[in-house]
Amino acid sequence: MPTAAALDALNRSIGTDVRLWPFDINLSRAWSVALWGAGVITLDESKKIEKGLAAVAEKLAGGATPVPSDEDVHTMIDRMLHEEVGDVASKLHTGRSRNDQVATATRLWSMDACAKLDSSARMLQQVMLDHAEALQDVLMPAYTHLQRAQPVSAAHWMLSHFWPLERDRGRIASASRAAGVLPLGSGAIAGCAFPVSRVLLQGSLGFSALSQNSIDAVGDRDFVAELLFAVAMMATHLSRLSEDLIIYGSSEFGFVQFGDAFTTGSSMMPQKRNPDALELARGSGARAIGDLSTLLSTLKGLPSGYNKDLQDDKRVLFDAVDTALLVLPAVAGALQETRFNVTRMRAALSSNMMATDLADYLVEKGATFREAHGAIGALIRESERDGCDLDGLPLASFKAAHSLFGDDALDWLEPARSVARRDVPGGTSASAVRAQLRSAHEALWPVGEAARGNELVLRAI
Ligand code: ARG
Repeated sequence: MPTAAALDALNRSIGTDVRLWPFDINLSRAWSVALWGAGVITLDESKKIEKGLAAVAEKLAGGATPVPSDEDVHTMIDRMLHEEVGDVASKLHTGRSRNDQVATATRLWSMDACAKLDSSARMLQQVMLDHAEALQDVLMPAYTHLQRAQPVSAAHWMLSHFWPLERDRGRIASASRAAGVLPLGSGAIAGCAFPVSRVLLQGSLGFSALSQNSIDAVGDRDFVAELLFAVAMMATHLSRLSEDLIIYGSSEFGFVQFGDAFTTGSSMMPQKRNPDALELARGSGARAIGDLSTLLSTLKGLPSGYNKDLQDDKRVLFDAVDTALLVLPAVAGALQETRFNVTRMRAALSSNMMATDLADYLVEKGATFREAHGAIGALIRESERDGCDLDGLPLASFKAAHSLFGDDALDWLEPARSVARRDVPGGTSASAVRAQLRSAHEALWPVGEAARGNELVLRAI
């Protein structure tokens, strides 16, 4: 009895997994060599299969598409290989199962995706670094609870979005390492019954380790979960960056002006420039989080070994990675063409933001912090009553608020002074920000890589 059409329709994954073909071809080539090494097929048969696989790859690269009977990428390649080389094609499936095959292909795809994600994230970081270099001397308010809190260098704000991406790149590298464990040779569940060299397979396919347990190997999708988490975390960071920029681009803030290439006009209001790229980045973060939670929900109920539920891992994996690879260059482009309005940023600084500095002033003169806090609180209330900021109050008010206030009290309301005082590593003083820029540069261009670059230059000379 043939399977029901309704099951075929549900079961067919070719629409999603056809893109695994280059990886499935590679692992199949390696498998055919392994079968020869194990004495299962002759050298001649192995060569025939390899040639056939090369021809299949050429057809697929040239745009060959699946036929209706192709269930998934593995059966499609199997059909095409039969068309190329005839019966010998069926020998390729000796000792392997689609269970270890799909796990291997998905891992290869994931490692490749990690390399792409890393380089796209790096490009965005480079844009941030370029802006930060230019913004070192620009002052702006930093916000807590979205309330003006303290003045900072605008470069410090820009780099506050650089480091989260740096951590994301670390997580992507670690997800790539998690993917780099070879399951091929696990068969359907119990391991391969032929003496294939898994070590040679590992080396030829670029894996860094071998799976230790065939039951685990065919059902393990931790590497997908790790990559999805890395992507969801990065999407969250991109969403927060976008949110900052969208707020800063509103007329009320006016700290940034968006460019033309990454915004759209309104069909109705000619004055508008909508930050679509940033809004789409923020919006798509929700899907990345959904993709992660879909996979975890799938995994948590599964008995050990391969189960067909796992077929859907690729939908979420591809969706999350594809989206991230669309979002990263769009955010990089939008940020690159963003202009900073230095005057508006500076104008948003008010002397009340130096309240902590004034408290520190009293502490340096011998007051306790509690006492100082009380005195500044009284000054703030007085300024609110008078409808001005702290620098609108007369010196006499300061002296009345605390006897330790001297004639220099008002100098401490200068934002540049407040910024310069925060000279610890990780702080916002000019020299701390310079050091931070150096670290950011080193993170992006590790010394080893720079040296390789120099070598190339030297060789060219
Ligand atoms: N298309 C399947 C997947 O993506 C391949 C593995 C099928 N294994 C099986 N025993 N039917 O998971």
